[in-house]
Amino acid sequence: MKQILVTGGTGYIGSHTAVELQNAGFEVIIVDNLSNSSIEVLDGIEEISGIRPVFEQFDLIDKEKVDAFFGKYPNIEAIIHFAAFKAVGESVALPLKYYRNNLVSLVNILDAMDQFNVPGIVFSSSCTVYGQPESLPVTENAPILKANSPYGNSKQISEEIIQDTLVACPKLNAIALRYFNPVGAHPTAIIGELPLGVPQNLVPFITQTAAGLRNQLSIFGSDYDTPDGTAIRDYIHVVDLAKAHVVAVKRLVESKNKKPFEVFNLGTGNGLSVLEVVDAFERVSGQKLNYKIVDRRPGDVEKVYADTTFANEELGWKAESTLDDILASAWKWEKKIRGIE
Ligand code: UD1
Repeated sequence: MKQILVTGGTGYIGSHTAVELQNAGFEVIIVDNLSNSSIEVLDGIEEISGIRPVFEQFDLIDKEKVDAFFGKYPNIEAIIHFAAFKAVGESVALPLKYYRNNLVSLVNILDAMDQFNVPGIVFSSSCTVYGQPESLPVTENAPILKANSPYGNSKQISEEIIQDTLVACPKLNAIALRYFNPVGAHPTAIIGELPLGVPQNLVPFITQTAAGLRNQLSIFGSDYDTPDGTAIRDYIHVVDLAKAHVVAVKRLVESKNKKPFEVFNLGTGNGLSVLEVVDAFERVSGQKLNYKIVDRRPGDVEKVYADTTFANEELGWKAESTLDDILASAWKWEKKIRGIE
């Protein structure tokens, strides 16, 4: 059985990916420092897939621990590197926290891949690297614009660090997956997103408002150049996203990649406005949502959604869930963790 290291594997996207990897027959080893996730997530992964992944708790910015880890597990064939901070606003206030964590951990991992002969890595990147694209839907060839936040910049720099490393170490291969807006939870509601404190992202804020934890959703801006004036994004079910990682890992371990560094957009291709998401949530959940329109949020782009042709054709992968599936799963999860019938 092929061993795959999943860094950040107890986190939101990591945990869903661990489930799909195990369902596909891979042996999963999770490394996480639990800075933004909980150890109980391992129980959830085990409950869904029937297998408890191997777990090691340490910080990937500690080079000695990273090297000791790879010495202990010499049979790892590929890495999926999720472990990173991702709060845009916090990254503006604490840029060095973001650069240290997101970049040093990547450097340590790439160094160890070379030293311990681990040939492939799948990197969690983001559509944030495109900024506000000039033409939509955005393809992988769109220019990388100056990042709006240290978080976004850390993703751009990470992709560059990977590419530079591949030039110097031709035995290594990498796939960067640029996520659009991952949302929803596992359909069993056994795992899902667990934001710490007040959620910054739209869907967890919606479900927490419906569950009574938040009084009101603020919709950031209604004067965008979009049909209803609210901003447009491409919301993708986290399980669809997780399945794309399985395809990417197989591509690396079976050496089906055509270039040492490949980039894929992971989205649905459908742009949806904030109000469309709110309407759909009200319909799917039967809950009336208390919301008000407020000013735009600094740093937000007006509209971004993916051209998924390359991922669909080259990976043979396509997002399958509907918006209703996504929101139903997010609501089922919120109700479960809040004990709502
Ligand atoms: C952003 C980044 C993404 C990053 C993610 C992590 C971009 C294009 N995307 O996603 O790369 O991984 O943050 O946090 O930079 N909204 C409200 N009210 C709320 C929350 C959000 O109206 O309370 C609106 C936002 O203004 C936006 C949409 O909902 O138009 C989605 O916002 P959010 O879920 O925070 O994701 P992004 O900002 O798109």
